[in-house]
Amino acid sequence: MEKLLIHNIGMLATPTGSTARRGARQGEIQILRGAWVLVENGMIANVGTGKPVPCDDATVLDAGGKLVTPGLVDAHTHLIFGGWRQNELGLKLHGVTYLEILARGGGILSTVTATRQATEEQLYDKAAAALNEMLAMGVTTVEAKSGYGLELENELKQLRVIRSLAENHPMDVAATFMGAHAVPVEYKDDREGYIRLLCEEMIPAVAKEKLARFCDVFCEKGVFTAEESRTILECGKRYGLIPKIHADEIEPIGGSELTAEVGAISAEHLIVCQPSGITAMAKAGTVACCLPATSFYLGSTYAPARDMVNAGVPVAMASDFNPGSCPSLNLQFVMNLGCLRYKLTPEEVLTAVTLNAAAAIHMAGRIGSVEAGKQGDLVIWDAPDLDYVCYRMGSNLASTVIKKGEVVVTR
Ligand code: NIG
Ligand code: FE
Repeated sequence: MEKLLIHNIGMLATPTGSTARRGARQGEIQILRGAWVLVENGMIANVGTGKPVPCDDATVLDAGGKLVTPGLVDAHTHLIFGGWRQNELGLKLHGVTYLEILARGGGILSTVTATRQATEEQLYDKAAAALNEMLAMGVTTVEAKSGYGLELENELKQLRVIRSLAENHPMDVAATFMGAHAVPVEYKDDREGYIRLLCEEMIPAVAKEKLARFCDVFCEKGVFTAEESRTILECGKRYGLIPKIHADEIEPIGGSELTAEVGAISAEHLIVCQPSGITAMAKAGTVACCLPATSFYLGSTYAPARDMVNAGVPVAMASDFNPGSCPSLNLQFVMNLGCLRYKLTPEEVLTAVTLNAAAAIHMAGRIGSVEAGKQGDLVIWDAPDLDYVCYRMGSNLASTVIKKGEVVVTR
């Protein structure tokens, strides 16, 4: 039996439980000082304080009095893409907006061209490099979306890359089908035709190969209407795909209100979410997956995450890593912004990037907290306490990353 004992933990900070935490409970985390954690066969067997239970056959890791938390969960990424879009920076500086770039056939659509041209192997290597970087920054589970293929074979290509990464990379990777990321140029004048293709060919093919667990839609002005989003997500549900929605990122066109109606597990972005959307999500228990680094990069306002927590919506935070609206995979920066821009407390922020993020991808029973019975995914931080991680900016503070009881990164 493989055993790992981590001892001399100065502060063990973790949310508890197997479901999303909301309202005041989002900020009520467990703090243990002078703690130890025993991981057996990849799973957490025991957690305690004081002198660890004697365990002769375990590999012993001294945490050096530092902070330990659960491995971070990045519940929203567009991990698989060809090329980059640094050429858009100049346009942005001249005041051309994100949706204007898209309307001119750039933006997502230019990444579609680059992704269609890339081989499965090229996409794999590029995404694996990003996963290595994420792991080194303390992220142990990632959600990854398709959505830069926008036609059957290229969407399947992206999802097969996600599947091979899930099988071969130490990171846990959850797959989301997002064929409804944009209307491809070929269907510019036939939106209904593209929605038929999504519902009649792409979703059934994705389900047949069991390539995704979730179905996501970009519900946005000029992309998919709330009505179209409903059609696509309902169709996904008939094929066993759990709904997610990119809602209220730029214009509030009814995306967050739709979450309750279709039973979405999460709504993403929510930058311009209205009180009616907050009420709908609180009532349905939808996880609000807020992406502050995207607001930072777009230069937009920030999601009303504070109001959401106060209203009883479980709030998660993620990177949104993609080549257009957030070319950063730094979840530690997202934690900084959670405090500085959302005005969440460090405790609420930790829950947002661990347990609530796990809930947004239906994995809160297995990951997202340091408790007996959960997977042995942990981070030892180059930090004495949680406040320090939320306060320091721009450095990578993850010093040792443990995945399923194995040390995968030491710096
Ligand atoms: O979440 N909003 C839609 N999708 C991504 C951006 C994708 C891109 O620009 O390539 C997002 O922001
Ligand atoms: Fe996104």
